[in-house]
Amino acid sequence: MADMLSTTAAAPTIIRRVDYRAPDWLVPDIALDFDLDPALTRIHATLSVTRNGDHDRPLRLDGDGLVPLEVKVDGRLLDQGEWHLEAGALIVALPGRAHSVETLVELAPESNSKLMGLYASGGLLCTQCEAEGFRRITFFPDRPDVLSRYNVHMVADRARFPVLLANGDPIEQGDLEGGRHWARWKDPFPKPCYLFALVAGDLACNADRFVTMSGREVQLGIWVKEADLPRTAHAMKALKDSMAWDERVYGREYDLDVFNIVAVADFNFGAMENKGLNIFNSRYILADPETATDIDYDGVEGVVAHEYFHNWSGNRVTCRDWFQLSLKEGFTVFRDQSFSADMGSHAVKRIEDVRILRAAQFQEDSGPLAHPIRPESYMEISNFYTATIYNKGAEVIRMMALMMGAERFRAGTDLYFDRHDGAAVTCEDFVLAMEEGGRIDLTQFRRWYEQAGTPHVRALLTHDPASQSVELTLEQVVPATPGQPDKQPMAIPLRMALFDSATAKHHGDELLMLTEPKQSFVFTGFASAPVLSINRGFSAPVIVETNRSQDDLAFLSAHDDDPFARYEAMQQLMVNVLIGHIGGQNVDDGSVIEAIRNALTDPALDPAFVAETIRLPSEAYLGDQMQIVDPDAIHAARDALQQKIGTALEPLWRDVHAKTKANGFSLSSAAKGARKLRNAALHYLVALGAEDGPAIAFAQFSEADNMTERQAALGTLANGTSAERVAALDIFYNRYAADALTLDKWFQTQAFALHPETVDQVEELGKHKDFTLNNPNRVRSLYGAFAGNQWAFHHKSGKGYRLVADCIIALDKLNPQTAARLVPPLGRWKRFDEGRAGLMRAELQRILAEPDLSKDVTEQASKSLD
Ligand code: TRP
Ligand code: ZN
Repeated sequence: MADMLSTTAAAPTIIRRVDYRAPDWLVPDIALDFDLDPALTRIHATLSVTRNGDHDRPLRLDGDGLVPLEVKVDGRLLDQGEWHLEAGALIVALPGRAHSVETLVELAPESNSKLMGLYASGGLLCTQCEAEGFRRITFFPDRPDVLSRYNVHMVADRARFPVLLANGDPIEQGDLEGGRHWARWKDPFPKPCYLFALVAGDLACNADRFVTMSGREVQLGIWVKEADLPRTAHAMKALKDSMAWDERVYGREYDLDVFNIVAVADFNFGAMENKGLNIFNSRYILADPETATDIDYDGVEGVVAHEYFHNWSGNRVTCRDWFQLSLKEGFTVFRDQSFSADMGSHAVKRIEDVRILRAAQFQEDSGPLAHPIRPESYMEISNFYTATIYNKGAEVIRMMALMMGAERFRAGTDLYFDRHDGAAVTCEDFVLAMEEGGRIDLTQFRRWYEQAGTPHVRALLTHDPASQSVELTLEQVVPATPGQPDKQPMAIPLRMALFDSATAKHHGDELLMLTEPKQSFVFTGFASAPVLSINRGFSAPVIVETNRSQDDLAFLSAHDDDPFARYEAMQQLMVNVLIGHIGGQNVDDGSVIEAIRNALTDPALDPAFVAETIRLPSEAYLGDQMQIVDPDAIHAARDALQQKIGTALEPLWRDVHAKTKANGFSLSSAAKGARKLRNAALHYLVALGAEDGPAIAFAQFSEADNMTERQAALGTLANGTSAERVAALDIFYNRYAADALTLDKWFQTQAFALHPETVDQVEELGKHKDFTLNNPNRVRSLYGAFAGNQWAFHHKSGKGYRLVADCIIALDKLNPQTAARLVPPLGRWKRFDEGRAGLMRAELQRILAEPDLSKDVTEQASKSLD
């Protein structure tokens, strides 16, 4: 096998968007026969192939690590000389326009550590094909514009694999000799191979049903290990809510008779939308109060919805090529965000989503890996499942919805789905449908697909008492990004309002379109200078700089009627104070304390919203506001302000903490909000250094009937050096050592800790008997979390960089996709002092010097050095 596959180590190829060509051969039908066994699985495939257009090119079937044991054309076994392998692909010359091509291959799923293709996880056999995993299962044109009807036959040992699932509808099943059995599944909807899935294993089912808007009954199944069945109720509720929501909001109905979800423990991503058979990372299915936080519950709801919504935005209408990834991901994230907002609080959901966007996407967009939501080239497509494609992609759709209004937006999506149902299309097709259906001109707006980088908008408001008018001058700058030194002005929709400071009222919310590099807007009827509220609702994914005073911000933090803008004013107030302190200025922080007091004592406010507004911006967000990040100064300033706020408002914190103690667990918004606020209060109580702080936290940790309060208490204790810290970590470990998802929290809490010895503790935890590189959740819990802990990761010794680089090097040999995801934190060296930058670069160079490095890590590390 080895010699057939060995190739000379060529420089990795770069795939370019402009090089797209329609497929030479189509595959309208495929029959797959799986003889499943973890050690040796045999896969027989029969492809009906048809020549696409007039050409004489051979059939090329992608393969990755496959050896054909047999190749047949129209039933005739070919000689070795009648086919050959080229970069893993099987090349066969075919004489006519239509043929039947058969291949036979063998795999060992149990030794597939990449978790791409067919692999074993916790005794199950399952698949992951997006983006290019199908070529690790069988020879096939592995590209999303080749759509086929699948007919899948599977055979396996009945005792070990009593449940056999695949896409579409179950057709037949039966027993065989020798304790084996079989099943046949057919999917009537043509689909690209990245949506293929099968699962075999000993699974229990939470079975339910849903009646669609046209009255069809759909059988729903959530398949998990028997012991996990009690933890599937929330996912099932989320699924039914999603199905109803997509009918109500987008008019989209489910189309098969069954919809199955399977939870697996080892998974490279969150979940996968395979047609009729979604496969999930178990962390986005399993939830109960004992082990799941409210954030986990929301994560389950959001990801179940996301994958379900893909049935239309992704599956029924799919991508022509992987440069169009945001076509399905940006749109589907926008859909799941809207759904979650409808299920809970719009205000809080928007704040959470923007926080994630800024933490992940703005960082990406300002560094060496910046790319537009529709990239121009890639080396390894797995590296492009990014915050830019997903989250900025969602913001771009959100802006369209805002500019069109709900009704026209719906007309646009209706046209898009109807026009392209069953087809593989491009982002441009989407934009054209939105222009036509939504009656809008998106000519300039298309630059959001082309240009990377977060636009900066300067907003200056000047008042002229003589004419009783104000002039708002807006200026935009789109920063240079790799490969894009010069930028064109973007079309930026900015919601704004002007507040009368005497009455705290405004004359209406307006949508301004900033389309020029610099533009002015004049508003009349202002005897005194109003206060500017801009980018309300975070209407555009931009960075806004204003000339507003701390008094203006304090005013908005108390009076803005747009909840996001109100939150934002408070954050900006805090940022200004903290950046001032970091720069050694003696900035007055009284306004921050007063703003927090106001929020805590305003009975009209939702506690969940209050909890969001009163937390200080993260250390990483503060770093993003600086040219050169000083992690130690940021930590010190934030810590000091936290202590000061804690002390100034101590009686309030004690009061809030006591009052929010619930009597029994509930998942209502009110109960979730109370927990969020209670945890924030606890945090300040401990931060202020109250003598009984650790005891209060330990009591909350011990007495809580839910993980939200237990983990928050543990996290708060982990930041300090009390005896309670050690005790709580031990108790937590002993209680949950057998439950992988919960043990992840134990690793993650320590990796996130704002504690001077975190870097040493992470080193120890990497050697812990429960740490393993084989499980991506565990790796992310330790090294992923640590790399996001700015103060600890950027320890000036460089030890943090070394730990992460060691992990990348070791993991690359097992699971390159997950290894590559740890590279970007090392690539932010330009934003750090020379000492740190040099250490970071040295680690990137050490990674690149490794022999046999994957394409995944090579691409990320080499781009990060530029
Ligand atoms: N399409 C999946 C989603 O958005 C993403 C995904 C699942 C994925 N598994 C993957 C991407 C493996 C890359 C590799 O929900
Ligand atoms: Zn998705």
